[in-house]
Amino acid sequence: MVKKLKIGVLASGNGSNLQAIIDRILRGDLPAEVVCVITNRSDAFALERANNHGITAFYLNHRDFSGRAAYDAALVAALKGEGVELVVLAGFMRIITRVFLDAFPQAVMNIHPALLPSFPGLHAQQQALDYGAKVTGCTVHFVDEGTDTGPIIAQAAIPILPDDTVETLSQRIHLQEHLLYPEAVKLYAEGRLRVEGRRVVVSGIHTSPQSSLLNPSA
Ligand code: GRF
Repeated sequence: MVKKLKIGVLASGNGSNLQAIIDRILRGDLPAEVVCVITNRSDAFALERANNHGITAFYLNHRDFSGRAAYDAALVAALKGEGVELVVLAGFMRIITRVFLDAFPQAVMNIHPALLPSFPGLHAQQQALDYGAKVTGCTVHFVDEGTDTGPIIAQAAIPILPDDTVETLSQRIHLQEHLLYPEAVKLYAEGRLRVEGRRVVVSGIHTSPQSSLLNPSA
């Protein structure tokens, strides 16, 4: 039997990427198990999604801690307590500190709604529209101490249409995110990712993992 990767998901909001990962696991196409979901907002819909699937889920308020490092130490303790091997950030609106990264070396992933290194940080869709870019997309990367600067695992490109608003563009980016993030987690679960400096080498495929290649009908 294939060993299942134990995933912990951190989310602050809707959790549609969490849902995409759960759905892919339920389809039997991702050898992993979401063992816990933690949010820093009591009203995060991600909590409800986790509950719907019987996944351990709780709210940990960052305001109850003296600072970022103390909060991260509590997150690490909770995740380690559940046996988490890979931490997946899914719309988690907090900067992760060294305390966290040292506890999960090259085992923290994030998804960003732009083609990094373009448009890091907040409001990436608005940044792309304001800049007049013709193409944007989404990026799955390992997390380092910078903001959206870690080694890139997978990307998907999306055209920006003349009438696009932040809402329409965000919707199309989300559709791609829901394909790309589970795929990146799957590559990790299968032990196919190796970080060499800034590059993530993916064994077994000879093109970049990007969702239009992974799912030609998308
Ligand atoms: C996504 O757009 C992701 O790129 C960004 O936060 C958003 C989370 O969306 N990091 P959801 O909560 O998974 O629906």
